[in-house]
Amino acid sequence: MTYEEFYGADYRRLKAAESQLTKSILQYQCLLEDRGDFPVIEFCRSRIKSPESMTAKLRKRGFPVNAEAALTRVNDALGIQIVCVFFRDIYRAASWLRNHPDYRVLQIKDYIAHPKSSGYRSYHVILEILSGEGKGIRAEVQIRTVALDFWADLEHQLQYKRQAGAPEPPADDLRRCADDLISAELSVQTMRDMILREL
Ligand code: GTP
Ligand code: MG
Repeated sequence: MTYEEFYGADYRRLKAAESQLTKSILQYQCLLEDRGDFPVIEFCRSRIKSPESMTAKLRKRGFPVNAEAALTRVNDALGIQIVCVFFRDIYRAASWLRNHPDYRVLQIKDYIAHPKSSGYRSYHVILEILSGEGKGIRAEVQIRTVALDFWADLEHQLQYKRQAGAPEPPADDLRRCADDLISAELSVQTMRDMILREL
């Protein structure tokens, strides 16, 4: 099934919402660069949930499998990932998003302050778009650093392979990897701060 077949007329709204959000993130990035600030956002990616994946999610949760349920019963038909340079940039980007007049925050999930038992760390903002062509569309915006993004991708791949019959990834090792990555990232951040103070 194609995206158009699954989401119907709402597919256009989803695409509009996707471009609206990614454009404003890019504008924020440019604004900071123009000010001469260090980059806060390394890059940003977005996706609309595939018909297969959305169907599985709606079924699992006992919702009807249609576009209406996809847009109102779950929050991540549109998903955005903002990948920041350093740890503290996560909160800076999140605060910009939370105060943006075009978006209303529906829910915050702070897996930075409260990591998941898997070791997953990321700051999630569930929002609704208030104006423009994407009005009424919800999105799940995941904000994390480069290192945390690397970890999330790796862990996701391992889980996926496990479903294909590979052995379960060792949870303790995965958590330790997340801790090591964060510790390395914080060390680099501290070095950068020291160098900047010297300037
Ligand atoms: P779903 O997990 O999407 O069904 O929604 P939920 O209501 O359980 O929300 P949650 O905040 O747990 O997860 C939302 C999204 O965050 C997921 O779809 C993943 O993209 C990401 N995520 C959450 N936990 C993990 C994790 O342990 N590892 C990785 N790699 N990603 C995660
Ligand atoms: Mg989940």
